[in-house]
Amino acid sequence: MPSSSSTISQADLVVVANRLPVDRTVDDAGTTHWQTSPGGLVTALEPVMRKNAGAWIGWHGADDDVDPFEHEGLSLVPVPLSVQEVEEYYEGFSNSTLWPLYHDVIAAPKFHREWWDAYVAVNRRFADRAVEVAAEGAVVWIQDYQLQLVPQMLREQRPDLRIGFFLHIPFPPAELFNQIPWRRQLLEGLLGADLVGFQLPGAATNFVRLIRSRVGHRTTRNTIHLPDGRNVDTRAFPISIDSAGLEEMAREPETQQRAREIRDNLGNPKTLLLGVDRLDYTKGITQRLRAFGELVADGAVDADEVMFVQVATPSRERVEQYRVLRDDIDRLVGRVNGDLGHIGRQPITYLHTSYPRTEMAALFRAADVMVVTPLRDGMNLVAKEYVACKYDDKGALVLSEFAGASAELKQAFHVNPYDINGLKSTLLAAMRADSRDLSRRMRAMRRQVSEHDIAKWASDFLSELRRTA
Ligand code: ADP
Ligand code: F6P
Repeated sequence: MPSSSSTISQADLVVVANRLPVDRTVDDAGTTHWQTSPGGLVTALEPVMRKNAGAWIGWHGADDDVDPFEHEGLSLVPVPLSVQEVEEYYEGFSNSTLWPLYHDVIAAPKFHREWWDAYVAVNRRFADRAVEVAAEGAVVWIQDYQLQLVPQMLREQRPDLRIGFFLHIPFPPAELFNQIPWRRQLLEGLLGADLVGFQLPGAATNFVRLIRSRVGHRTTRNTIHLPDGRNVDTRAFPISIDSAGLEEMAREPETQQRAREIRDNLGNPKTLLLGVDRLDYTKGITQRLRAFGELVADGAVDADEVMFVQVATPSRERVEQYRVLRDDIDRLVGRVNGDLGHIGRQPITYLHTSYPRTEMAALFRAADVMVVTPLRDGMNLVAKEYVACKYDDKGALVLSEFAGASAELKQAFHVNPYDINGLKSTLLAAMRADSRDLSRRMRAMRRQVSEHDIAKWASDFLSELRRTA
């Protein structure tokens, strides 16, 4: 049970994110549960906040006022969102305007003035909470696209703070960004930070160019010079995972036993392919399942020997594009299994649920080929997690060239997920590669992931932030 306190103790390090690492749910019997929140941001930041004493401000998944509380060693400061704010700020402006627009307009972004008003109001609430929680001269680290106005709102009230911002998703080029009716306000919001971090250098370049053309500030390389003499630095900080912690979990005898059980339960296929994602249209799930279905239909792979397990965490289920995607995938899986399966053998096992981390590690251990095919992704931590779990250098990673992770995981089987024939031949190449080739690739990727872990990411960002001020 979390312990709560109505007084806020001030912290020298404050993280501000849309979500807390845990989400409150109440079951039918009225019992409260705290469940791990979905997504890569929480996976990445949780170990950081366990190592560094500090406070984490975020939404607790409900609309009531909850006092700050301690949960498994973390100091959490909840921010409530009303039902209407969830619709307008979270499902609306964050996930139906910014999310599709920042991901290459894979789905059409929607622009509504009332959503923008809600985004401004909620950003102000998060900023006000940070004003209360941050100690004099504290470091405040604001996360992701839901909170782009917070840096400026915070600086106006607390110029003593050192303010960092990190964007977990891609930052688009001017051709797309300029569609946003409130483009200038978003850019000025971000300029409240001392350091703005992105996943890839190209995103930082897009931002600096936009500042020059839209706001008119002078820039030199990756530094923006504001008229009041303050500088804002921008740079790429590719995010990562707790590689050693995950590997340790993967090496546990229970995890290995569970990995064997998973394969047994699937009828011990010769080759097991795996996909693990939030159920999101940016992840290229349909493309990979279509490619796999065609390989089975063509006879290029034998459904008695090869199986695909797709695990998808439910996500943003009230947003229309996500409902459409869920129906599309249900239909596609049903068609492939209906047409190509037989009693006791289904080519695709589809699990629409989320699992504990130990089960994920066992799935990664069990899989021969990990299939990560986003149409656009800021980083993609799943690709790094798979690599971290493959301590025996076995297994193949098929990775989209549109995932941020592809810049670091150069030895993966790279693929353009829009090219279904290319995807089919890359899946075959990964399945047929010889073990020496696979272990050479995996060794190199494992070195990258263990040397560039989440602790390094956080210390690189925070030391740069302290240096810039
Ligand atoms: P995103 O942040 O867009 O969701 P990432 O790949 O960066 O994508 O991070 C997803 C995180 O969620 C990873 O840590 C992954 O292990 C976890 N995850 C994805 N699917 C599931 C699932 N079905 N059950 C539990 N965890 C999951
Ligand atoms: O960076 C990806 C991200 O959008 C995070 O900001 C977010 O916490 C996560 O995915 C999960 O999405 P949501 O919070 O909308 O469930």
